Amino acid sequence: MKIAKKDVLKALEHITVPGEGQNMVESGAVKNLQIFGDEVEIDITINNPSLQARKKTEVEILKIIHQEVYAKAKIKVNIKVDAPAAKPKVNEIKGKPIPGIQNIIAVASGKGGVGKSTVTANLAVTLAKMGFKVGLLDADIYGPSMPIMFDVAQEKPLAVNVDGKSKMKPVESYGVKLLSIGFFTQPNQAVIWRGPMASKALNQMIFDAHWGEIDFMLVDLPPGTGDIHLSIMQSMPITGAVIVSTPQEVALADARKAVAMFRQDSINVPVLGIAENMAYFTPEELPNNKYYIFGKEGAKHLAEDLEVPFLGEIPLVQSIREAGDVGRPAALQTATPVEEAFEALTRNTVQEVVNRNKNLPPTEAIKITTMAGCSAVKKK
Ligand SMILES: Nc1ncnc2c1ncn2[C@@H]1O[C@H](COP(=O)(O)OP(=O)(O)O)[C@@H](O)[C@H]1O
Ligand SMILES: [Mg+2]
Repeated sequence: MKIAKKDVLKALEHITVPGEGQNMVESGAVKNLQIFGDEVEIDITINNPSLQARKKTEVEILKIIHQEVYAKAKIKVNIKVDAPAAKPKVNEIKGKPIPGIQNIIAVASGKGGVGKSTVTANLAVTLAKMGFKVGLLDADIYGPSMPIMFDVAQEKPLAVNVDGKSKMKPVESYGVKLLSIGFFTQPNQAVIWRGPMASKALNQMIFDAHWGEIDFMLVDLPPGTGDIHLSIMQSMPITGAVIVSTPQEVALADARKAVAMFRQDSINVPVLGIAENMAYFTPEELPNNKYYIFGKEGAKHLAEDLEVPFLGEIPLVQSIREAGDVGRPAALQTATPVEEAFEALTRNTVQEVVNRNKNLPPTEAIKITTMAGCSAVKKK
């Protein structure tokens, strides 16, 4: 009787090593398999150090091969125990994972008015057009603008009952699920959110909301590098950050600070890249004319300098501003250069999320014990 190797492997696929999710072939536990006629010798490595786990695995292997391959096979099982290497501890506490939410992208800018919210809104609708499930959390406590940009300023999130708990239901517009700090304030009312209050409101929008399944959750952060950023990064395991800047020197200086904030040891959120907004002005009737009114390729050079990916450039065009004001993001206008620009930006961003998830462990929400870290950001 000559036993075939593939039959033995197939039989071993029925066995899951204690403490591991996959079967022992998939998990790579089977290190070597040799067959001489009716003799089978198997070398396996398991992570479970208990004698009981080893015995159990050995018995299962003998049984399954006798059952499925050859009842009289002579089997030798060599088990090596390989205790898992202690994982390097990156952050102090594990972030509360948010069930159903795959990737969280924070959009930050450093300076206000550079088009962070405009870029976020257009990224969101473009992702939705590409077929992703998209959430948008407008965390800009100083100037929440998403309700207007999505034409839902008059709406309020409803309460829904989920498993006996009352949850906030995000407002949906253009295929994007949206919650904004603006839904909880009166229009025209100057609201000064104190840090703890703002954190509480944001936490509710994150954890007491019924987001459902989300591929990409975008978070429109307030401009700057302040407490509220730290608070958000404490509550959410952020996959990565996108920095928006114009090519202008003052904006670039603040973008640099934003990158430094995410890169701080105590925060350690990967920067997915820099997007250049208002890269050049184009008159709608002369689309080939480009006027570099804020300077040329400033954000691109900053990206090179900081060794972060450059995600793309968005021109300054009247239709982008108008679209924001009427509440229908410009990227929804099909077959336009604006749509194309946002599509390129979105594709690059998704690609960077994919790269990031391949190369790095999940970000954990961080615990910041002192505010000392902030001064490090302000220094540069
Ligand atoms: N690429 C662009 N072309 C034209 N107008 C833009 C562009 N990006 C932003 N704007 C306009 O600039 C203003 C500031 O943009 P906004 O997204 O609110 O900035 P931020 O969120 O960074 O404060 C808004 O009136 C917006 O419509
Ligand atoms: Mg804004």
